[in-house]
Amino acid sequence: MVDIFLDTADLSEIRRFSKMGVIDGVTTNPSLIKKVAGVSNARQMEKYIWSIFNSVPGGDVSVEVVSTDRHGMIAEGRKIDELFRDYSDNLLIKIPGTEEGLYATRELSADRLRVNATLIFSPGQALLMAKAGAYCVSTFSGRVNDRIREQMGWGKINDPANAELGKRYHKTSWFPADGWREEGRTDGRVVYIDVPDEGVRIRSGVDLTGQTSAALLNTKTLTLAASLRNAREAVESAIEGAEILTVPPNVLDDMLGLTAHSQVVSGVEAFERDTVPEYRQMFDLTANK
Ligand code: E4P
Repeated sequence: MVDIFLDTADLSEIRRFSKMGVIDGVTTNPSLIKKVAGVSNARQMEKYIWSIFNSVPGGDVSVEVVSTDRHGMIAEGRKIDELFRDYSDNLLIKIPGTEEGLYATRELSADRLRVNATLIFSPGQALLMAKAGAYCVSTFSGRVNDRIREQMGWGKINDPANAELGKRYHKTSWFPADGWREEGRTDGRVVYIDVPDEGVRIRSGVDLTGQTSAALLNTKTLTLAASLRNAREAVESAIEGAEILTVPPNVLDDMLGLTAHSQVVSGVEAFERDTVPEYRQMFDLTANK
């Protein structure tokens, strides 16, 4: 069963989806916390993060370190564990997938702490983090799509510097999982972006997740699809083998929209129309049997 985490630090959104029973945890990062926490000291920040744990009872919560060197990351990982000791069964420590992060992951995993290796952009990088003992690796799907589009000469729609550019994209726009097909070509050739530093050819964010999941098949490490920007990308990531999806509230709302499919609505109406009184009476708890 795929787990769904909520990619936010917004307590009201966490509570809303937790009550609905559709989330198994929360992922935070310093940027997400900056958006909502509004606290003025470390003690309040600590309490804020406790509230995140309390808002998703029994769910996993990822908390990120801020140091970039191994010793700093290890010390911060241990400190996070100490601060949130009451929730240690549900704590994931986010460590960036850098070389320094490898050492930190090895050390923290040896302490039996669960590491969420973040900022994963290639299956090879994921494999190394898995070897170091990461519990899961976070593939940054949407950011891969951003980069491919940028390499194709597209510019971000909300960047004034790109106002004149013919081709602009919004970061929430869906990107084809099997690569962008060149416009005007009738042979349907897919435009691949060869990025030498990735070791393999990555066609899209979903492709990164799929290849990572395949590479990790014989390891204990889970693939967590992150940086998901729309419902289609989230569902495709699950189809491609991600064991965990982390989605921002707007994407989960987007997925909720799938329950309002026109055939769902008309199907419910038809069942209602066809219900015979005897069948309805069966559910009448006040009736004498
Ligand atoms: C979650 O773990 C990541 O930090 C998050 O999904 C990044 O998303 P973004 O690329 O939309 O910032």
